[in-house]
Amino acid sequence: MKLIKTPTDWNPLWLSHLQKNHRIGLVPTMGALHQGHLDLVEKSLQSCQVTVVSIFVNPTQFNNPEDFQKYPNTLAKDLELLESIGVDYVFVPSVETIYPKATELRVDFGDLERVLEGKFRPGHFNGVGIVVSKLFHLIRPSIAFFGQKDLQQVAIIRRLVEDLSFPLEMEVVPTRREADGLAMSSRNLRLNPTERKQALILFNSLEKAKRKLLSGESWTEIKQEILNNFENTPTAQLEYFDLIHPDTFEEYQEFQLEKKSSVCVAAFIGEIRLIDNLPIIP
Ligand code: PAF
Repeated sequence: MKLIKTPTDWNPLWLSHLQKNHRIGLVPTMGALHQGHLDLVEKSLQSCQVTVVSIFVNPTQFNNPEDFQKYPNTLAKDLELLESIGVDYVFVPSVETIYPKATELRVDFGDLERVLEGKFRPGHFNGVGIVVSKLFHLIRPSIAFFGQKDLQQVAIIRRLVEDLSFPLEMEVVPTRREADGLAMSSRNLRLNPTERKQALILFNSLEKAKRKLLSGESWTEIKQEILNNFENTPTAQLEYFDLIHPDTFEEYQEFQLEKKSSVCVAAFIGEIRLIDNLPIIP
C-alpha cells in the first residue's frame, strides 16, 4: 500500500493505471475508520482494479469548531487496517494541499440544503461540495463510494456529480450497524458508556416509526410520540425527526405507501451529535 500526499505523487500513478485501462475506485473518508467504511472499501476492492481511500478531516465542513478539534484521529490504526485488506493507495493530503488558499467559491444545493442537516449545520454542505469536488478532480476516480448513513450527503453529491458533469459513477452502500442497531459512526468513539447506551434512542425511534407507519398509524401521531420520548430523555436533545423523500428531501406531512420515503433523525447525546436514517419505502 502506498501513501500519497500530493497530486504530484498521484498523477504519474493515475496515468499508468489509465494506460492499463484500470477502473479506479475512490472511498472518501475523514478517518477514524470502522466497519462501515470498510464495507465501502470492500465494495471498491471487488469491483475495481485500483482502490484509493482518502483520509482528510475537512475543516470547511465543520460548522462547529469544537467538533472539528475533537474529531477522532486514529491514523496509524486506519493505515494498518487498510493495508491488511489490500487497499492500493491512501491519499492523506495536508490542509495546505487541499486548500492552498481559502476557497471563495460557494456551492448552493437549493432546496436540498435548506432542510435537515443543511438547516441545522449552515455551511456544512458547501464544505462537503467543495472538498468532494477537489477529491474528484485530484484523484479522477471511475467510481466513488459513499455510505447510506449520510443520506442527505449522498443526495447532495449526486446533485454535484450531475450538475457539474463529473465523469464518474457513484455507489451507495447500506448503513452498517452495531449488534444492538446503533449506526456505526466515527463520532461513536466519543460517547462514554452511559451515552453509548442512550444513543440507541435514535435507532429505536426509527424502528418504531417504521413499524407503526407500515401498520397504518398516522405520521403526525407517531412523530408526536417520538418527540415526547426524546423530551423524557434529558441527555438526548433532538434536532429533527422527519419523514422525507430520500432523493429530493421533500418533507412529507403524511405517509403514502406508493411514494419512496425514509425517516431521518439527528440528536445530541450529551455533546455528541449523531444522525441516522431508515428507508421505509425504498
Ligand atoms: O462522509 C464523510 O466522511 C465526509 O463528509 C467526506 C465525504 C469524506 C467529505 O469530507
